[in-house]
Amino acid sequence: MRIIQDENYAALSCRTAEIILAAVREKPDCVLGLATGSTPIGAYDCLAEAYREGRATFRHVRTVNLDEYAGLGADDPQSYRYFMEKHLFSRINVQRENTHIPNGLAENPALECRRYDALCEALGGIDLQLLGIGKNGHIGFNEPARALDVHTHTVTLAESTRLANSRNFKSLDDVPRSALTLGMGGIMRAKRILLLASGEQKREALQKAVSGKVDPEVPASFLQLHPDVTVICDFDLNCAEL
Ligand code: PGA
Repeated sequence: MRIIQDENYAALSCRTAEIILAAVREKPDCVLGLATGSTPIGAYDCLAEAYREGRATFRHVRTVNLDEYAGLGADDPQSYRYFMEKHLFSRINVQRENTHIPNGLAENPALECRRYDALCEALGGIDLQLLGIGKNGHIGFNEPARALDVHTHTVTLAESTRLANSRNFKSLDDVPRSALTLGMGGIMRAKRILLLASGEQKREALQKAVSGKVDPEVPASFLQLHPDVTVICDFDLNCAEL
């Protein structure tokens, strides 16, 4: 694992965007694994700016998102499809048919999960996967558990996750109780991974994720088994304490 500690969120965002832009320049039809949440918004802003300034094109890029809330459709402002449209897709020239997010409204979620795994495989796998980390160590919506799912699956969200995400909803009751998420296998098969953590409140989770031990109660810790992970944070990780 390569660990980069940036000065602040702007630097983390800019660095993340530059890594993504380099991947797109090197392989114009690359498959980007994208994430939602507060953390990647700055990087998406930088990508949109690069496009606006004519420094980048996303015409042939394919994207697959990590997860989607069960029961929310593309028109719902709380859905991750809506989030991606707002923060990235509508601001760059990616082709909509090349953007993929699990369908939160699928009548048969199990079938939708299988479809999503098959799709990732058909795309040739994820070239660069962007990840945030939950305070509880989750990646995507792979929540702490005694055992983790390999494949895309429906997951019951941890109460701490619902609480953390309730800031985007009218009330905690409005936060969906389940979601569809890429499994640990889908994430670990990505050729390269960028794990982002912004804010001191993520320090403890990130310390556990890089601690030298893998633990399903800290899903991000499995990333230590991946051969090409870059961690970017905007705080002092205090690795010496580990
Ligand atoms: P955040 O979420 O970027 O909003 O902090 C990260 C996550 O829960 O994976």
